[in-house]
Amino acid sequence: MTKLIVANWKMNKNAKACFEFFDTFNAKYSSKREAWIAPQSIHLNLVINQGMKANVKAGLQNCSDHTSGAFTGEISPVNAKELGTHFVILGHSERREIFKETSKTIAAKVKTAHQSDLKVIFCLGETLAERESGMTETVLKDQLNQGLSDQSLATADNLVVAYEPIWAIGTGKTATPAMAQEAHAFIRSILKDKFPGFGEKVRLLYGGSVKPDNVEELLAQKDIDGGLVGGASLKANDFLALCGDK
Ligand code: 13P
Repeated sequence: MTKLIVANWKMNKNAKACFEFFDTFNAKYSSKREAWIAPQSIHLNLVINQGMKANVKAGLQNCSDHTSGAFTGEISPVNAKELGTHFVILGHSERREIFKETSKTIAAKVKTAHQSDLKVIFCLGETLAERESGMTETVLKDQLNQGLSDQSLATADNLVVAYEPIWAIGTGKTATPAMAQEAHAFIRSILKDKFPGFGEKVRLLYGGSVKPDNVEELLAQKDIDGGLVGGASLKANDFLALCGDK
């Protein structure tokens, strides 16, 4: 299976910085690994157009659970799809923690995104306190069952799951490859039960301080199919290294 590396640019980069990124990235990207990029939605068109030149797919960092209507400030998944958007990240811990998104809202967003023909990267992960009190598996199982409840439209092709331990995001503390593998194997076992026939084929990404110097070890794990990357995806040369293009 080709590994998938996803850049989550969060609320970083102005338009000029986006163009500069692609000047470097597109010249060297070999497609050895699949590359997807989620910019701020105001730069979506720019990333769709620049990414197209190198077969890089663009996506949203969030979207509405409605497709149209009186929802000031929200982004319609179906209108994003019309522009050429490939995917949406849903359930990121920053959305859960800062914007108080519940599993119920996330489940509704996943469903609307699939109805809009967007691929979904569904994020989950435990806090440090939850890990230290031995709750990791319970938390992951609850997040999967609640956030992916009633997902009759999910397929191995339109669902990607990203395990992002919250204590590893932006902290420089990566889960060890063995720790990440253990969580991924657990998530895989739940997906197999939840989605008989295709659960084992859903791609599982690891996120949380993935860098050029730890990516190979992480990707070598049996159940790690790629990475969801914040900080190290912002510099074109680092993102190239993550994509296997040094
Ligand atoms: P960092 O790679 O900066 O730790 O961020 C991870 C993340 O939140 C990606 O969605």
